[in-house]
Amino acid sequence: MAIRTRAAARLALLLAAALPGACSRPGKPPEAPRGYVIGLGEIMGLTQMRHAKLWFAGQAGNWPLAAYELDELKEGFADAAHYHPHHKNVPEPLGRMIAEYTQEPLAELDTAVERQDKARFATAFDHLTQGCNACHEAAGFGFNVVQRPTVPPYSNQRFEP
Ligand code: HEC
Repeated sequence: MAIRTRAAARLALLLAAALPGACSRPGKPPEAPRGYVIGLGEIMGLTQMRHAKLWFAGQAGNWPLAAYELDELKEGFADAAHYHPHHKNVPEPLGRMIAEYTQEPLAELDTAVERQDKARFATAFDHLTQGCNACHEAAGFGFNVVQRPTVPPYSNQRFEP
């Protein structure tokens, strides 16, 4: 599911619970809810989670899960480019930078997952991680450094197939 849809659904639920009647005034048609745009930092937080899950899925040889996390990563990048085409003092359009730094490694990951090749997967994963860090550097956020995760991020999800 797209981040936008999920976030919007959650927000709608919150509003419905917390503000009964607040969206409509007597005598006036109800106002359309204002759009919610997820922040780039929040998208990146989710990207970080997916990056970690992708690693453990690949390590466990759980290829359907790896393919899923890979897809979610791509959706997150697409959302980042769509909702934040220009971000703060980042010198270039985000979409262009994302393509420049992640397109190749993501394609390598696609191939590795398709072929169920763990060695290839590890190389492609490191390549993607380098892309994340290179983009952070180019964007002026070089202090955000990501790496291969060492511990699964969640104890309530099984990574083994
Ligand atoms: C456009 C190039 C770009 C790419 C590619 C990119 N990032 Fe980011 N990332 C950013 C920017 C810009 C920020 C700072 C956003 C902000 O202003 O909060 C950021 C922030 C982050 C943060 C900090 C979030 C927080 O709130 O602590 C993490 C973690 C992160 N990115 C992970 C990743 C991972 C993992 C990848 C690769 C799978 C990745 N990023 C790829 C540009 C990028």
